Amino acid sequence: MARAAMSEVRGGAVVTGAGRGLGRQIAELLAARGHHVLVTDVDAASAQAAADEIGRGATAMAVDVRDATQVEAARDAVVEAAGRLDVWVNNAGVLFTGPAWEQSPEQRNLILEVNAGGTINGTVAAIEAMRTTGGHIVNIVSLAGLTAVPGEAVYAASKHAAIGFSLSTLQDLRLAGVEDIDISCICPDGIWTPMLHDKLDDLASALSFSGKLLQPGEVVAAVAKVLDKPRPVTAVPGWRGLVARLGDALPGLGLAAVPLVVAQGRRTQRRLLRDGIPS
Ligand SMILES: NC(=O)c1ccc[n+]([C@@H]2O[C@H](COP(=O)([O-])OP(=O)(O)OC[C@H]3O[C@@H](n4cnc5c(N)ncnc54)[C@H](O)[C@@H]3O)[C@@H](O)[C@H]2O)c1
Repeated sequence: MARAAMSEVRGGAVVTGAGRGLGRQIAELLAARGHHVLVTDVDAASAQAAADEIGRGATAMAVDVRDATQVEAARDAVVEAAGRLDVWVNNAGVLFTGPAWEQSPEQRNLILEVNAGGTINGTVAAIEAMRTTGGHIVNIVSLAGLTAVPGEAVYAASKHAAIGFSLSTLQDLRLAGVEDIDISCICPDGIWTPMLHDKLDDLASALSFSGKLLQPGEVVAAVAKVLDKPRPVTAVPGWRGLVARLGDALPGLGLAAVPLVVAQGRRTQRRLLRDGIPS
């Protein structure tokens, strides 16, 4: 179906990891835009509660993004319910902090399997459904997909994998002559969600607090913007994307600056512990 027609009658949308945090709010945005939303999460109860609260016909399904069969079942369920799949948001993610050598093999595998493997499973499943109708895949990456992140090395590896896969697949689609499936990556700075709620006194996660601590709504606004106008990479805020890319282009400079950046993040963590989080 042509894009113009798609916008008149909205089809299905799937959000992974949408039981809480950013994903839940993205699911709410998609429901408000008129999509039939399938709220998915590895935690079935939180997915169901989120769908109930969102209303507007939103439904829930337990989906572990590490399992391609479960991901495909979600895709098939939303196509069955809504007739077609317009939007798929790969949002599910996990974060364990600390140097890689202090993490267990299980933690390292989990980060890679959920953040990178889950994004790959979701993107491939969505493309299959969008082949005849077109559609838009939105991948929630991170500034950690653009540059080095001391204290979050394995997480950064998983997000580099996610963005590398997303942009390469977008190019594969165009080379294959597929013009009506878009992939947009969102790369936010630290967001005040349950992922960071227990990390104010975690020194290893200082980089997540070294820039602008975002409210989920600010990232949802960026998602709304790309839904209207697909864009391969959007950093939130944009200036932090530039700083991240500068550190990446000049790794010697990034290495020299890291004590200052870590000190800035820890100052913010201490201030937030003392004064609380501004809403
Ligand atoms: N919070 C931040 O500072 C921040 C910054 C940049 C990017 N991000 C990214 O934003 C996305 C959303 O994170 P959030 O901040 O809302 O975190 P969150 O921890 O609040 O939510 C993550 C959700 O993913 C779900 N999940 C975990 N493992 C899963 C699996 N195997 N299958 C399906 N669902 C699973 C969890 O149950 C949870 O509902 C993640 O991809 C995260 O990496 C977060």
